[in-house]
Amino acid sequence: MARASKRPDAGKIDEAALRGLPEQHGQGHVFRFWGELSGAERTALLEQLSRIDFNLLDRLVRAQLLKPAKPAAGKLTPAPIIPIPGTDQERIAHLQARQRGEELLRQGKVAAFVVAGGQGTRLGFDGPKGTFVIGPVSRRTLFQVHAEKIRASARRYGAPVPWLVMTSESNHQATADFFRKNESFGMEERDVFIFQQEMLPAVDRKGKVFMESKSRVFTSPNGHGGSIKALSDSGALEELARRGIEAISYFQVDNPLVNPCDPVFLGYHALHQAEMSSKVVRKRDWSEKVGVLGRRDGKLAVIEYSDLPESDARATLPDGSLKYWAGSIAIHLLSVEFARRLNRGGFQLPYHVAEKSVPSLDDRGSLVKPKEKNGIKFETFVFDALGETRRSVSLEVRREEEFSPVKNAAGEDSPEQSRRDLTALYLRWLEAAGARIERGNGGAASGYVEISPLTALDGEELARRLKPGTVVRSGFIL
Ligand code: UD1
Repeated sequence: MARASKRPDAGKIDEAALRGLPEQHGQGHVFRFWGELSGAERTALLEQLSRIDFNLLDRLVRAQLLKPAKPAAGKLTPAPIIPIPGTDQERIAHLQARQRGEELLRQGKVAAFVVAGGQGTRLGFDGPKGTFVIGPVSRRTLFQVHAEKIRASARRYGAPVPWLVMTSESNHQATADFFRKNESFGMEERDVFIFQQEMLPAVDRKGKVFMESKSRVFTSPNGHGGSIKALSDSGALEELARRGIEAISYFQVDNPLVNPCDPVFLGYHALHQAEMSSKVVRKRDWSEKVGVLGRRDGKLAVIEYSDLPESDARATLPDGSLKYWAGSIAIHLLSVEFARRLNRGGFQLPYHVAEKSVPSLDDRGSLVKPKEKNGIKFETFVFDALGETRRSVSLEVRREEEFSPVKNAAGEDSPEQSRRDLTALYLRWLEAAGARIERGNGGAASGYVEISPLTALDGEELARRLKPGTVVRSGFIL
Protein backbone atom coordinates (compact mmCIF):
# COMPACT_ATOMS: atom_id res chain seq x y z
CA MET A 1 0.00 0.00 0.00
CA ALA A 2 1.14 3.53 -0.55
CA ARG A 3 1.63 6.02 2.23
CA ALA A 4 -1.26 8.47 2.18
CA SER A 5 -0.72 12.17 2.29
CA LYS A 6 -3.70 14.44 2.76
CA ARG A 7 -1.86 17.69 2.22
CA PRO A 8 -3.41 19.62 -0.65
CA ASP A 9 -1.08 21.01 -3.25
CA ALA A 10 -0.08 24.45 -1.92
CA GLY A 11 0.00 25.77 -5.48
CA LYS A 12 -3.73 25.16 -5.79
CA ILE A 13 -4.74 27.34 -2.83
CA ASP A 14 -7.43 29.81 -3.89
CA GLU A 15 -6.41 32.78 -1.75
CA ALA A 16 -9.50 34.91 -2.32
CA ALA A 17 -11.91 32.09 -1.45
CA LEU A 18 -9.93 31.07 1.62
CA ARG A 19 -9.71 34.63 2.90
CA GLY A 20 -13.50 34.86 2.74
CA LEU A 21 -14.24 31.50 4.36
CA PRO A 22 -13.52 32.21 8.05
CA GLU A 23 -15.33 35.57 7.76
CA GLN A 24 -18.47 33.81 6.53
CA HIS A 25 -18.34 31.64 9.64
CA GLY A 26 -17.74 34.43 12.14
CA GLN A 27 -14.04 33.52 12.52
CA GLY A 28 -12.51 36.50 10.73
CA HIS A 29 -10.17 37.13 13.69
CA VAL A 30 -7.85 34.42 12.32
CA PHE A 31 -6.52 37.18 10.03
CA ARG A 32 -5.89 39.66 12.85
CA PHE A 33 -2.11 39.50 12.34
CA TRP A 34 -2.18 39.03 8.54
CA GLY A 35 -0.32 42.32 7.94
CA GLU A 36 2.64 41.06 9.99
CA LEU A 37 2.99 37.67 8.25
CA SER A 38 5.64 36.72 5.71
CA GLY A 39 4.59 35.16 2.40
CA ALA A 40 5.38 31.68 3.68
CA GLU A 41 3.40 32.23 6.88
CA ARG A 42 0.41 33.48 4.89
CA THR A 43 0.52 30.38 2.71
CA ALA A 44 0.79 28.16 5.79
CA LEU A 45 -2.24 29.80 7.40
CA LEU A 46 -4.32 29.54 4.23
CA GLU A 47 -3.28 25.95 3.78
CA GLN A 48 -4.36 25.13 7.33
CA LEU A 49 -7.67 26.95 6.84
CA SER A 50 -8.32 24.92 3.69
CA ARG A 51 -8.30 21.79 5.84
CA ILE A 52 -10.74 23.02 8.51
CA ASP A 53 -14.36 21.98 8.12
CA PHE A 54 -16.01 25.29 9.07
CA ASN A 55 -19.53 24.02 8.37
CA LEU A 56 -19.04 21.18 10.85
CA LEU A 57 -17.54 23.58 13.38
CA ASP A 58 -20.56 25.90 13.04
CA ARG A 59 -22.91 23.02 13.70
CA LEU A 60 -20.95 21.85 16.74
CA VAL A 61 -20.65 25.36 18.19
CA ARG A 62 -24.34 26.07 17.67
CA ALA A 63 -25.36 22.81 19.34
CA GLN A 64 -22.96 23.40 22.22
CA LEU A 65 -23.81 27.04 22.85
CA LEU A 66 -27.54 26.52 22.58
CA LYS A 67 -27.67 23.27 24.52
CA PRO A 68 -24.48 22.46 26.46
CA ALA A 69 -23.71 18.76 26.19
CA LYS A 70 -24.45 16.69 29.28
CA PRO A 71 -23.21 13.16 29.83
CA ALA A 72 -25.45 10.89 27.78
CA ALA A 73 -28.32 9.82 30.03
CA GLY A 74 -30.36 6.64 29.63
CA LYS A 75 -31.12 3.39 31.40
CA LEU A 76 -27.97 1.35 31.90
CA THR A 77 -27.90 -2.44 31.96
CA PRO A 78 -24.96 -4.87 31.76
CA ALA A 79 -24.12 -6.36 28.35
CA PRO A 80 -23.84 -10.10 27.63
CA ILE A 81 -20.20 -11.16 27.55
CA ILE A 82 -18.46 -14.40 26.52
CA PRO A 83 -16.49 -15.35 29.64
CA ILE A 84 -12.99 -16.76 30.00
CA PRO A 85 -13.78 -20.49 29.57
CA GLY A 86 -14.50 -22.28 32.81
CA THR A 87 -16.61 -25.22 31.60
CA ASP A 88 -15.99 -27.88 28.94
CA GLN A 89 -18.70 -26.35 26.80
CA GLU A 90 -17.03 -22.96 26.95
CA ARG A 91 -13.66 -24.50 26.18
CA ILE A 92 -15.09 -26.25 23.11
CA ALA A 93 -16.66 -22.97 21.93
CA HIS A 94 -13.27 -21.27 22.28
CA LEU A 95 -11.60 -24.03 20.31
CA GLN A 96 -14.14 -23.73 17.51
CA ALA A 97 -13.65 -19.97 17.47
CA ARG A 98 -9.89 -20.40 17.32
CA GLN A 99 -10.19 -22.72 14.31
CA ARG A 100 -12.40 -20.26 12.46
CA GLY A 101 -10.06 -17.36 13.30
CA GLU A 102 -7.00 -19.32 12.14
CA GLU A 103 -8.78 -20.01 8.88
CA LEU A 104 -9.32 -16.25 8.36
CA LEU A 105 -5.66 -15.56 9.10
CA ARG A 106 -4.55 -18.30 6.69
CA GLN A 107 -6.80 -16.82 4.01
CA GLY A 108 -5.25 -13.36 4.52
CA LYS A 109 -8.58 -11.78 5.48
CA VAL A 110 -7.33 -9.77 8.45
CA ALA A 111 -5.74 -6.32 8.72
CA ALA A 112 -4.32 -4.72 11.88
CA PHE A 113 -5.12 -1.10 12.69
CA VAL A 114 -3.38 0.97 15.36
CA VAL A 115 -4.71 4.37 16.34
CA ALA A 116 -1.78 6.59 17.17
CA GLY A 117 -3.06 10.09 16.49
CA GLY A 118 -3.43 11.14 20.13
CA GLN A 119 -1.12 13.62 21.78
CA GLY A 120 -0.04 11.52 24.75
CA THR A 121 -0.11 14.55 27.05
CA ARG A 122 -0.42 12.53 30.28
CA LEU A 123 2.78 10.56 29.60
CA GLY A 124 4.75 13.77 29.11
CA PHE A 125 6.80 12.17 26.32
CA ASP A 126 7.92 14.40 23.50
CA GLY A 127 7.21 12.51 20.28
CA PRO A 128 4.70 10.02 18.87
CA LYS A 129 3.79 7.52 21.61
CA GLY A 130 4.62 4.62 19.30
CA THR A 131 8.28 5.69 19.40
CA PHE A 132 8.35 5.27 23.18
CA VAL A 133 10.79 2.59 24.37
CA ILE A 134 8.91 -0.15 26.21
CA GLY A 135 10.92 -3.39 25.71
CA PRO A 136 12.07 -4.22 29.26
CA VAL A 137 15.45 -5.54 28.08
CA SER A 138 15.64 -5.02 24.30
CA ARG A 139 14.45 -1.40 24.45
CA ARG A 140 12.01 -2.05 21.62
CA THR A 141 9.58 0.78 20.93
CA LEU A 142 5.82 0.32 21.05
CA PHE A 143 5.68 0.44 17.22
CA GLN A 144 8.32 -2.27 16.98
CA VAL A 145 6.47 -4.53 19.44
CA HIS A 146 3.25 -4.18 17.42
CA ALA A 147 5.02 -4.68 14.08
CA GLU A 148 6.79 -7.83 15.24
CA LYS A 149 3.56 -9.35 16.55
CA ILE A 150 1.92 -8.70 13.19
CA ARG A 151 4.92 -10.14 11.31
CA ALA A 152 5.03 -13.19 13.57
CA SER A 153 1.36 -13.85 13.03
CA ALA A 154 1.65 -13.44 9.25
CA ARG A 155 4.58 -15.88 9.30
CA ARG A 156 2.66 -18.40 11.44
CA TYR A 157 -0.39 -18.44 9.16
CA GLY A 158 1.44 -17.93 5.88
CA ALA A 159 -0.50 -14.87 4.70
CA PRO A 160 0.22 -11.14 4.92
CA VAL A 161 -1.51 -8.98 7.53
CA PRO A 162 -1.57 -5.38 6.27
CA TRP A 163 -0.96 -2.78 9.00
CA LEU A 164 -2.83 0.50 9.07
CA VAL A 165 -1.33 3.24 11.23
CA MET A 166 -3.42 6.31 11.98
CA THR A 167 -1.56 9.46 12.90
CA SER A 168 -2.61 13.08 13.12
CA GLU A 169 -1.10 16.33 11.89
CA SER A 170 0.71 16.74 15.21
CA ASN A 171 2.75 13.55 14.80
CA HIS A 172 2.36 12.33 11.21
CA GLN A 173 5.73 13.43 9.87
CA ALA A 174 7.62 12.17 12.92
CA THR A 175 5.81 8.81 12.67
CA ALA A 176 6.43 8.42 8.94
CA ASP A 177 10.12 9.32 9.45
CA PHE A 178 10.41 6.79 12.27
CA PHE A 179 8.96 4.04 10.08
CA ARG A 180 11.31 4.97 7.26
CA LYS A 181 14.34 5.04 9.55
CA ASN A 182 13.44 1.61 10.92
CA GLU A 183 12.55 0.18 7.49
CA SER A 184 8.98 -0.43 8.66
CA PHE A 185 10.35 -2.86 11.28
CA GLY A 186 10.80 -5.53 8.66
CA MET A 187 7.28 -5.33 7.23
CA GLU A 188 6.80 -5.24 3.47
CA GLU A 189 6.36 -1.68 2.23
CA ARG A 190 3.10 -2.60 0.50
CA ASP A 191 1.66 -3.90 3.79
CA VAL A 192 2.10 -0.66 5.74
CA PHE A 193 -0.34 2.21 5.28
CA ILE A 194 0.17 5.37 7.32
CA PHE A 195 -2.55 7.99 7.13
CA GLN A 196 -3.80 11.00 9.07
CA GLN A 197 -7.02 11.66 10.90
CA GLU A 198 -8.59 15.10 10.74
CA MET A 199 -7.96 17.95 13.14
CA LEU A 200 -10.59 20.27 14.60
CA PRO A 201 -10.18 23.69 16.22
CA ALA A 202 -11.11 24.14 19.86
CA VAL A 203 -13.35 27.14 20.56
CA ASP A 204 -13.82 29.61 23.43
CA ARG A 205 -17.12 30.03 25.21
CA LYS A 206 -18.35 32.35 22.45
CA GLY A 207 -17.54 29.81 19.76
CA LYS A 208 -14.41 31.57 18.45
CA VAL A 209 -11.38 29.51 17.43
CA PHE A 210 -8.06 30.11 19.23
CA MET A 211 -4.83 31.18 17.53
CA GLU A 212 -1.74 29.36 18.74
CA SER A 213 0.53 31.67 16.74
CA LYS A 214 -0.02 34.58 14.38
CA SER A 215 -0.18 32.20 11.44
CA ARG A 216 -1.78 29.14 13.00
CA VAL A 217 -5.17 28.18 14.41
CA PHE A 218 -5.07 25.89 17.46
CA THR A 219 -6.36 22.47 16.42
CA SER A 220 -6.29 18.99 17.91
CA PRO A 221 -7.12 15.50 16.58
CA ASN A 222 -10.85 14.84 16.18
CA GLY A 223 -10.91 11.80 18.50
CA HIS A 224 -10.27 8.15 17.72
CA GLY A 225 -13.77 7.92 16.25
CA GLY A 226 -12.21 9.95 13.44
CA SER A 227 -10.42 6.74 12.50
CA ILE A 228 -13.57 5.43 10.82
CA LYS A 229 -13.78 8.46 8.56
CA ALA A 230 -10.01 8.54 8.01
CA LEU A 231 -10.09 4.88 6.94
CA SER A 232 -12.46 5.86 4.19
CA ASP A 233 -11.00 9.28 3.24
CA SER A 234 -7.47 7.89 2.96
CA GLY A 235 -8.55 5.17 0.55
CA ALA A 236 -7.44 2.46 3.00
CA LEU A 237 -10.91 0.95 3.22
CA GLU A 238 -11.22 0.50 -0.52
CA GLU A 239 -7.73 -0.97 -0.67
CA LEU A 240 -8.64 -3.46 2.07
CA ALA A 241 -11.80 -4.45 0.24
CA ARG A 242 -9.79 -4.87 -2.97
CA ARG A 243 -7.39 -7.18 -1.14
CA GLY A 244 -10.26 -9.29 0.16
CA ILE A 245 -9.80 -8.25 3.81
CA GLU A 246 -12.88 -8.89 5.93
CA ALA A 247 -11.88 -7.97 9.48
CA ILE A 248 -9.97 -4.96 10.82
CA SER A 249 -8.30 -5.52 14.18
CA TYR A 250 -8.37 -2.13 15.94
CA PHE A 251 -6.13 -1.32 18.91
CA GLN A 252 -4.48 1.60 20.70
CA VAL A 253 -0.80 2.35 20.39
CA ASP A 254 -0.33 2.47 24.17
CA ASN A 255 -0.82 -1.24 24.98
CA PRO A 256 2.24 -3.49 24.38
CA LEU A 257 0.32 -6.55 25.59
CA VAL A 258 -2.22 -6.36 22.77
CA ASN A 259 -2.61 -9.42 20.58
CA PRO A 260 -3.42 -7.82 17.22
CA CYS A 261 -4.15 -11.10 15.43
CA ASP A 262 -6.05 -13.12 18.02
CA PRO A 263 -7.64 -16.12 16.27
CA VAL A 264 -10.14 -16.74 19.10
CA PHE A 265 -11.50 -13.19 18.97
CA LEU A 266 -11.51 -13.23 15.15
CA GLY A 267 -13.32 -16.56 15.18
CA TYR A 268 -16.11 -15.49 17.54
CA HIS A 269 -16.54 -12.30 15.54
CA ALA A 270 -16.87 -14.26 12.29
CA LEU A 271 -19.03 -17.08 13.67
CA HIS A 272 -21.52 -14.51 15.04
CA GLN A 273 -21.36 -12.52 11.80
CA ALA A 274 -20.59 -9.55 14.02
CA GLU A 275 -20.04 -6.07 12.61
CA MET A 276 -17.97 -4.71 15.49
CA SER A 277 -16.74 -6.64 18.52
CA SER A 278 -14.94 -5.76 21.75
CA LYS A 279 -12.58 -7.24 24.31
CA VAL A 280 -13.05 -6.54 27.99
CA VAL A 281 -11.24 -7.28 31.24
CA ARG A 282 -12.54 -7.37 34.79
CA LYS A 283 -12.10 -3.92 36.34
CA ARG A 284 -9.50 -3.78 39.14
CA ASP A 285 -12.04 -2.03 41.36
CA TRP A 286 -15.07 0.18 40.95
CA SER A 287 -13.02 3.35 40.46
CA GLU A 288 -10.64 2.19 37.73
CA LYS A 289 -10.51 4.73 34.92
CA VAL A 290 -11.69 2.57 32.04
CA GLY A 291 -14.95 2.74 30.12
CA VAL A 292 -17.38 -0.10 30.85
CA LEU A 293 -19.15 -2.12 28.23
CA GLY A 294 -22.89 -2.11 28.84
CA ARG A 295 -26.19 -1.22 27.28
CA ARG A 296 -27.67 2.24 27.31
CA ASP A 297 -31.41 2.15 26.61
CA GLY A 298 -30.88 -1.34 25.20
CA LYS A 299 -28.10 -0.28 22.80
CA LEU A 300 -24.57 -1.60 23.19
CA ALA A 301 -22.23 1.12 24.43
CA VAL A 302 -19.01 1.89 26.21
CA ILE A 303 -19.88 4.15 29.12
CA GLU A 304 -16.88 6.35 29.86
CA TYR A 305 -15.67 6.36 33.46
CA SER A 306 -16.50 10.05 33.70
CA ASP A 307 -20.09 9.38 32.55
CA LEU A 308 -20.82 6.37 34.79
CA PRO A 309 -22.70 7.54 37.90
CA GLU A 310 -20.85 6.52 41.06
CA SER A 311 -23.88 4.54 42.29
CA ASP A 312 -23.70 2.40 39.11
CA ALA A 313 -19.90 2.12 39.26
CA ARG A 314 -20.16 0.83 42.83
CA ALA A 315 -23.23 -1.40 42.24
CA THR A 316 -22.67 -5.09 43.03
CA LEU A 317 -24.35 -8.40 42.20
CA PRO A 318 -25.63 -10.74 44.95
CA ASP A 319 -22.21 -12.47 45.06
CA GLY A 320 -20.56 -9.14 45.87
CA SER A 321 -18.85 -8.72 42.48
CA LEU A 322 -19.22 -5.53 40.43
CA LYS A 323 -22.35 -5.25 38.29
CA TYR A 324 -20.45 -3.21 35.69
CA TRP A 325 -17.23 -5.18 35.74
CA ALA A 326 -16.48 -5.28 32.03
CA GLY A 327 -13.73 -2.71 31.46
CA SER A 328 -13.20 -1.80 27.82
CA ILE A 329 -9.57 -2.19 26.75
CA ALA A 330 -10.22 -0.45 23.45
CA ILE A 331 -9.57 -3.53 21.32
CA HIS A 332 -12.18 -4.08 18.64
CA LEU A 333 -12.80 -5.96 15.44
CA LEU A 334 -14.59 -4.10 12.69
CA SER A 335 -15.89 -5.73 9.58
CA VAL A 336 -14.79 -3.89 6.45
CA GLU A 337 -18.40 -3.81 5.33
CA PHE A 338 -19.51 -2.17 8.60
CA ALA A 339 -16.80 0.51 8.31
CA ARG A 340 -18.05 1.23 4.81
CA ARG A 341 -21.65 1.44 6.04
CA LEU A 342 -20.66 3.93 8.75
CA ASN A 343 -19.21 6.21 6.08
CA ARG A 344 -22.14 5.99 3.70
CA GLY A 345 -24.22 9.19 3.60
CA GLY A 346 -21.67 11.12 5.70
CA PHE A 347 -19.89 10.33 8.90
CA GLN A 348 -22.38 9.87 11.72
CA LEU A 349 -20.69 9.33 15.09
CA PRO A 350 -21.77 11.83 17.75
CA TYR A 351 -19.34 14.49 19.01
CA HIS A 352 -18.37 14.59 22.68
CA VAL A 353 -17.37 17.80 24.35
CA ALA A 354 -14.40 18.25 26.68
CA GLU A 355 -13.38 21.43 28.50
CA LYS A 356 -9.67 22.17 28.15
CA SER A 357 -7.16 24.90 28.92
CA VAL A 358 -5.98 26.15 25.56
CA PRO A 359 -2.95 28.44 25.31
CA SER A 360 -3.70 31.20 22.80
CA LEU A 361 -2.66 34.62 21.54
CA ASP A 362 -3.96 37.73 23.22
CA ASP A 363 -4.81 40.91 21.28
CA ARG A 364 -1.16 41.95 21.17
CA GLY A 365 -0.05 38.60 19.81
CA SER A 366 1.57 37.17 22.98
CA LEU A 367 0.89 33.56 23.88
CA VAL A 368 -1.06 33.27 27.13
CA LYS A 369 -1.38 30.04 29.11
CA PRO A 370 -4.70 30.11 30.94
CA LYS A 371 -4.86 28.98 34.57
CA GLU A 372 -8.34 27.61 34.08
CA LYS A 373 -10.26 25.74 31.42
CA ASN A 374 -11.10 28.30 28.76
CA GLY A 375 -11.97 26.20 25.73
CA ILE A 376 -14.08 23.41 24.34
CA LYS A 377 -12.75 20.52 22.31
CA PHE A 378 -14.89 18.25 20.11
CA GLU A 379 -14.11 14.55 19.65
CA THR A 380 -15.80 11.39 18.44
CA PHE A 381 -15.18 8.00 20.07
CA VAL A 382 -14.84 4.82 18.05
CA PHE A 383 -16.84 2.77 20.54
CA ASP A 384 -19.96 4.83 19.80
CA ALA A 385 -20.14 2.77 16.61
CA LEU A 386 -21.11 -0.23 18.78
CA GLY A 387 -24.58 1.27 19.11
CA GLU A 388 -24.95 1.06 15.31
CA THR A 389 -24.21 -2.66 15.09
CA ARG A 390 -26.79 -5.29 14.26
CA ARG A 391 -24.58 -8.01 15.73
CA SER A 392 -21.63 -7.75 18.08
CA VAL A 393 -19.50 -10.01 20.26
CA SER A 394 -17.97 -9.02 23.60
CA LEU A 395 -15.20 -11.26 24.83
CA GLU A 396 -13.64 -11.37 28.29
CA VAL A 397 -9.86 -11.78 28.34
CA ARG A 398 -7.21 -11.91 31.05
CA ARG A 399 -5.78 -8.52 31.92
CA GLU A 400 -2.38 -9.98 32.77
CA GLU A 401 -2.16 -11.41 29.24
CA GLU A 402 -3.60 -8.62 27.12
CA PHE A 403 -3.74 -5.22 28.79
CA SER A 404 -1.12 -3.01 30.36
CA PRO A 405 -1.24 0.42 28.70
CA VAL A 406 1.34 3.16 28.97
CA LYS A 407 -0.60 6.28 29.85
CA ASN A 408 0.88 8.02 32.89
CA ALA A 409 4.47 8.98 33.66
CA ALA A 410 4.35 7.17 37.03
CA GLY A 411 2.12 4.87 39.10
CA GLU A 412 -0.76 2.97 37.52
CA ASP A 413 -0.61 2.52 33.74
CA SER A 414 2.99 3.78 33.70
CA PRO A 415 5.94 2.46 31.63
CA GLU A 416 7.41 0.91 34.79
CA GLN A 417 4.17 -0.96 35.50
CA SER A 418 3.87 -2.08 31.88
CA ARG A 419 7.46 -3.43 31.80
CA ARG A 420 6.75 -5.32 35.03
CA ASP A 421 3.58 -6.80 33.50
CA LEU A 422 5.44 -7.83 30.33
CA THR A 423 8.18 -9.45 32.45
CA ALA A 424 5.62 -11.27 34.59
CA LEU A 425 3.93 -12.70 31.48
CA TYR A 426 7.23 -13.87 29.96
CA LEU A 427 8.26 -15.44 33.29
CA ARG A 428 4.99 -17.41 33.38
CA TRP A 429 5.62 -18.67 29.83
CA LEU A 430 9.23 -19.54 30.64
CA GLU A 431 8.32 -21.36 33.82
CA ALA A 432 5.57 -23.34 32.09
CA ALA A 433 8.06 -24.22 29.32
CA GLY A 434 10.37 -25.74 31.92
CA ALA A 435 12.97 -22.98 32.32
CA ARG A 436 14.68 -22.59 35.68
CA ILE A 437 13.91 -19.12 36.99
CA GLU A 438 16.54 -17.67 39.34
CA ARG A 439 14.79 -16.13 42.29
CA GLY A 440 16.27 -13.95 45.01
CA ASN A 441 18.21 -10.73 44.78
CA GLY A 442 19.44 -10.04 41.25
CA GLY A 443 17.44 -13.02 39.95
CA ALA A 444 14.92 -12.88 37.10
CA ALA A 445 12.01 -12.34 39.41
CA SER A 446 13.52 -9.09 40.68
CA GLY A 447 14.57 -7.67 37.30
CA TYR A 448 13.29 -7.65 33.72
CA VAL A 449 13.18 -10.42 31.13
CA GLU A 450 11.89 -10.32 27.56
CA ILE A 451 10.74 -12.63 24.77
CA SER A 452 10.61 -11.23 21.26
CA PRO A 453 7.28 -11.69 19.46
CA LEU A 454 9.37 -13.11 16.61
CA THR A 455 10.65 -15.83 18.95
CA ALA A 456 7.27 -16.69 20.44
CA LEU A 457 3.82 -15.17 20.24
CA ASP A 458 2.56 -17.22 23.16
CA GLY A 459 3.56 -19.71 25.82
CA GLU A 460 2.93 -22.74 23.59
CA GLU A 461 5.27 -21.46 20.91
CA LEU A 462 7.92 -20.71 23.50
CA ALA A 463 7.65 -24.24 24.89
CA ARG A 464 8.46 -25.58 21.40
CA ARG A 465 11.51 -23.32 21.04
CA LEU A 466 13.07 -23.23 24.48
CA LYS A 467 16.24 -25.27 24.95
CA PRO A 468 15.96 -27.76 27.82
CA GLY A 469 17.83 -26.63 30.93
CA THR A 470 17.54 -22.90 30.17
CA VAL A 471 18.28 -20.78 33.21
CA VAL A 472 16.61 -17.38 33.41
CA ARG A 473 18.34 -14.51 35.20
CA SER A 474 17.54 -10.82 35.30
CA GLY A 475 18.13 -9.32 31.85
CA PHE A 476 17.32 -12.63 30.06
CA ILE A 477 16.22 -12.07 26.48
CA LEU A 478 15.15 -14.49 23.77
C1 UD1 B 1 -9.37 5.05 26.44
C2 UD1 B 1 -10.88 4.86 26.41
C3 UD1 B 1 -11.37 4.05 27.58
C4 UD1 B 1 -10.61 2.74 27.65
C5 UD1 B 1 -9.10 3.01 27.72
C6 UD1 B 1 -8.32 1.71 27.64
C7 UD1 B 1 -11.60 6.93 25.40
C8 UD1 B 1 -12.39 8.17 25.50
N1 UD1 B 1 -11.53 6.16 26.42
O1 UD1 B 1 -9.08 5.97 27.46
O2 UD1 B 1 -12.76 3.76 27.45
O3 UD1 B 1 -11.03 2.03 28.81
O4 UD1 B 1 -8.69 3.81 26.62
O5 UD1 B 1 -6.97 1.94 27.54
O6 UD1 B 1 -11.06 6.63 24.38
N2 UD1 B 1 -6.26 8.59 19.73
C9 UD1 B 1 -6.17 8.92 18.40
N3 UD1 B 1 -6.77 10.08 17.98
C10 UD1 B 1 -7.43 10.90 18.83
C11 UD1 B 1 -7.52 10.56 20.20
C12 UD1 B 1 -6.91 9.38 20.62
O7 UD1 B 1 -5.58 8.20 17.58
O8 UD1 B 1 -7.95 11.92 18.36
C13 UD1 B 1 -5.63 7.34 20.16
C14 UD1 B 1 -4.40 7.57 21.00
O9 UD1 B 1 -3.25 7.73 20.21
C15 UD1 B 1 -4.38 6.32 21.86
C16 UD1 B 1 -5.87 5.99 22.03
O10 UD1 B 1 -6.55 6.63 20.98
O11 UD1 B 1 -3.79 5.24 21.17
C17 UD1 B 1 -6.46 6.31 23.41
O12 UD1 B 1 -6.57 7.64 23.62
P1 UD1 B 1 -6.61 8.25 25.09
O13 UD1 B 1 -7.07 9.65 24.98
O14 UD1 B 1 -5.30 8.02 25.75
O15 UD1 B 1 -7.76 7.40 25.83
P2 UD1 B 1 -7.92 7.06 27.37
O16 UD1 B 1 -8.44 8.24 28.11
O17 UD1 B 1 -6.69 6.47 27.89
